[in-house]
Amino acid sequence: MNSSNSKPVLNRDTIVPYLLDIFERRGPEAYLGESVSMADHMEQSAACAVAEGASNAVVVASLLHDIGHFSGEFPLDALEQGIDNYHQDSGAKILAQFYPADISEPVRLHVAAKRYLCAVDSEYFAKLSPASVNSLHLQGGKMSDAEIQQFEATAHHQAAIQLRRYDDEGKVAGLTIRKIAHYRELLQEMLL
Ligand SMILES: [Fe+2]
Repeated sequence: MNSSNSKPVLNRDTIVPYLLDIFERRGPEAYLGESVSMADHMEQSAACAVAEGASNAVVVASLLHDIGHFSGEFPLDALEQGIDNYHQDSGAKILAQFYPADISEPVRLHVAAKRYLCAVDSEYFAKLSPASVNSLHLQGGKMSDAEIQQFEATAHHQAAIQLRRYDDEGKVAGLTIRKIAHYRELLQEMLL
């Protein structure tokens, strides 16, 4: 399974076990100043999606939405040259190779959805975690009116808003939740 650059060859047969492996190896890492690990955070986000009866695509998008933080785990040719370091873009590019746009696009838009919600929903901003308020400034702050219009015209923006709310809910310290292995069949089923 190893290529010459020691990164795995990823295809329909290998991507799901590889995603599980990344969660296993890298999942315990801290999540950007929050009190949950990366794996707990994404698994909690997926559990919120399931609890709300979200579509399978949104469940998978929630489960994998921060995979871009682990972009170094993927072969270089998985990412276009000159890619920026934004985890939403790298995550979406990784996912778009294996999953349809209704999974990769909400991931790409989930930071924009936060900037959108901060602009249109005053209660939303008040509920953000301190780390999330901090990153909002780095991400460009609240959207302007023009950006709001543009976002609302973008395909999959509603799923991105849904995902964003699960992302924000998935930060509960000590909450034990179904692990990624529970979603193995769904992850396989939803592949392109
Ligand atoms: Fe997240």
